[in-house]
Parts: sequence; structure tokens; C-alpha cells
Amino acid sequence: MAGAAYDDRDGVIWMDGEMVNWRDAKVHILTHAMHYASSVFEGERAYNGNIFKSREHSERLIASADALDMPLPYSIDQIEAAKDEALRASGLQDAYVRAVVWRGSGEDMGVASAKNPVRMAVAVWGWGAYYGEAKMQGAKLDIAEYKRPSPETIPVHAKAAGLYMICTISKHKAEAKGCSDALFMDYRGYVAEATGANIFFVKDGEVHTPLPDCFLNGITRQTVVQMLKDKGITVHERHILPEEMTDFEQCWLTGTAAEVTPVGQIGDYTFEVGDITREIAEDYEKLVRS
Ligand SMILES: Cc1ncc(COP(=O)(O)O)c(C=O)c1O
Repeated sequence: MAGAAYDDRDGVIWMDGEMVNWRDAKVHILTHAMHYASSVFEGERAYNGNIFKSREHSERLIASADALDMPLPYSIDQIEAAKDEALRASGLQDAYVRAVVWRGSGEDMGVASAKNPVRMAVAVWGWGAYYGEAKMQGAKLDIAEYKRPSPETIPVHAKAAGLYMICTISKHKAEAKGCSDALFMDYRGYVAEATGANIFFVKDGEVHTPLPDCFLNGITRQTVVQMLKDKGITVHERHILPEEMTDFEQCWLTGTAAEVTPVGQIGDYTFEVGDITREIAEDYEKLVRS
């Protein structure tokens, strides 16, 4: 299965209320989402057959769809049931779960989309460490040229496809330089997040992480902030200037796909994979399987 194209695999995909053959889970070329990014999604992981924080992800999916004026024709319980059905059908215990909601093809092919159906699918596949080899050695990050936009520009808290355009561009540039990912500053110049993960720093035994006021307040981020507080570690959620990275000693990324991934270098700034980073990575691994 490894290396197989994502549209050419065995299995089934939950699509608009039915389980369809994996290779038949298709959309028309005049799908509104393909032309205008009318699409929102979730990335979730199942551990030992249970989706971690499943309900929080379903709530965020509904909130993202609302932000794009795409009324979802499913209740939260129906979304939960769909994800569960897709996971069971995959036969996998540890898996990545992708739920996606989009405007399909219908009577509208201009920018407006109210006459097009809101559709939904859930696909499940096996996915190991997001950053591969870099996972425990310390990932190397490039600094992205694009900035995370202002909340006045776009619905920044939606997990919406349109917000990933600059992520893909920045990640391609990063990979071409031998980096695993890119770190974005925001529209004001503060440190924001990576292309698919939030960021944390350590200095003098305390943790600093950017205030999520113009990017996704990740479910993993919120989990890790709570874990740190429960351990009695002070967490500063605040605006962070890029120059401050000179004095930060440790750094890691959090995300459903990334889990807790140590960072060794961002541009010219370097970090050690220290005790707090290692402990949090191990604690997170235990928590998701508890
Ligand atoms: C842009 C972006 N930021 C942050 C995150 C982390 O969010 P979560 O921890 O909810 O997966 C993700 C991953 O979903 C992401 O794509």
C-alpha cells in the first residue's frame, strides 16, 4: 500500500451518507470547491481504535463550515457516526482520519454557491510520523516568505482549504532547501505557526507559545498547554517576536499529524532537543493511547 496514489487504493470511503468503493469516491470537474476553495476539513488520528478528541474535531468541522456559509446537512452525532463507520471499515487501529466538507457542483458556477449542495466525505488511512526521520532528532524549519493573514482578511480560525494555499507554496520552498517545514510570521511580524502545526518554545524552564489570534488554535496545542500546566510548568501564551528565538533553548511543534515533534533549527536559530521537549512528546504519546 505504501506509495500507492491516494485515488488508487483498496477500501471504502464514507461519502454523503454511504460507503463507496475507494476508487469510486469521485467528484465532477465543475465542483465549486475546486475553483473557489469552498472546502473545509479535519485531520484526526485514531489510536488503538479510538479517534483522539473526536468530538472536538467534529465541532471544529461544523464551525469551519459555518464560517464559510456552508450549512452542513449532518448533526454532530451523524458526523461522529460517519467517522466511526469509516474507521471500523478500514480495519485499522492506528490511523489518520480525514473528514472533508465542500460545495459540490450544482446550479452555481460563479463565485456564489448557495445553489450547490454541501457535501461531505470521510477517508481513513494509515499514516506514520508526519516528519519522518526528523520526528525525534529535531526538525529543521525554513522561515516562510508569506505571512499568516489578519482576521480582517479571511476566517483565520476555520480549517479551510483556502488558508493552505500559502502553506503548500512555503512547504515546497522549505523542502527544496532540505527543511521539513516552514514557520510563518503573522501579518504583524509575530511568530505564528508552521504549515500544519503550532509551535512552542522553552526558556529557563518556562514555555512560550504564540497567542492564536490569527491562526488555528490547534486541538493538540490546547491539549499540550493543559498537560504543561498540569505538570506545574508556566505557559506564556503571548505575542512572540522572531528575534526572541535567539534566547529560546528548546522548541517543538504540535498537531494531529505532527503530534509532538522537536525542532532543532529554524532559519539560523538553533535549539536543543531538551528534557521538557522529550517529556512532553512521551506524555502526549501516553495520553493519546490512554
Ligand atoms: C495550519 C495548522 N495549524 C495548526 C494545526 C494543528 O491543529 P490540531 O492540533 O488541531 O491538529 C494544523 C493541523 O491541523 C494546521 O493545519
